[in-house]
Amino acid sequence: MIHLDAVALRLHVNNALSPSIQSYNILMEQEVITLLSSREIEKMRRAGRLAAELLDYLEPLVKPGVSTLKLNDEAERWTQAHGAKSAPLGYHGFPKSICTSVNEVVCHGIPNARQILKDGDIINIDVTLIVEGYHGDTSKMYFVGEPSPLARRLVEVTDKCRQLGIEQVKPGAKIGDIGAAIQDYAESQGFSVVRDFVGHGISNIFHTAPQIPHYGKRGTGKKLRPGMVFTIEPMINEGTWEVEVMKDKWTALTKDRKLSAQCEHTLVVTTSGYEILTQY
Ligand code: MF3
Ligand code: CO
Ligand code: CO
Repeated sequence: MIHLDAVALRLHVNNALSPSIQSYNILMEQEVITLLSSREIEKMRRAGRLAAELLDYLEPLVKPGVSTLKLNDEAERWTQAHGAKSAPLGYHGFPKSICTSVNEVVCHGIPNARQILKDGDIINIDVTLIVEGYHGDTSKMYFVGEPSPLARRLVEVTDKCRQLGIEQVKPGAKIGDIGAAIQDYAESQGFSVVRDFVGHGISNIFHTAPQIPHYGKRGTGKKLRPGMVFTIEPMINEGTWEVEVMKDKWTALTKDRKLSAQCEHTLVVTTSGYEILTQY
């Protein structure tokens, strides 16, 4: 028998999608959740570690006056110098190596020479590196100069949402526990959780099963098992959770043009809980 809640959740995620996001979801190439071997997990560790190091490397470059293209080019150069590949470059037509999502951009912002960071901006940099065929996917928020109190609080809440989601992860817990923990906290702080993009399984495939919604009901969804590897990457909005995708087919914006923040880790379910593979 099919669990109704699980079906409802999947239908909801798929129905809510705009055309470009549908293709993103179709990229969930398989329905079955693969359990990774310890050899594969070791490769995921290497990819995850390098991705985290790249976010650290970029930190001092994020300041007023720099273009998002400059951040992209520095990331690409660093990635090649470390013998890795940028997974986003050419991925279903994505034109650059990293995603740079500033202020009201929810995710998938495209680096651009004409986009110059200014004091008070908040920016998410999302990197995915391929090392020996395996993917490390992680992102964080950076402050450009001094943020407003509201922007700072949104970023702090988003970081805590990810942490609360991660703390749900252990064998026997349900996927819905992750989203419930995130949604409860985000909404208690007066913010909203983006529905149209979800976390994802990841291995030698960039986006695969399972989908990890950042909202939902405790006790619903598939059971977590040791060897599952996926991302948790909540997008938390100041105002409405609704998003719009720009004509470029990638850049997702908040419908009300208020602020959005995101942070991401890749993790593996262990026999006792979880291991973060992209700790920075
Ligand atoms: N790194 C993003 C994620 O967290 C995906 C970016 S796909 C791209 O899943 F094509 F937009 F780069
Ligand atoms: Co991801
Ligand atoms: Co990512």
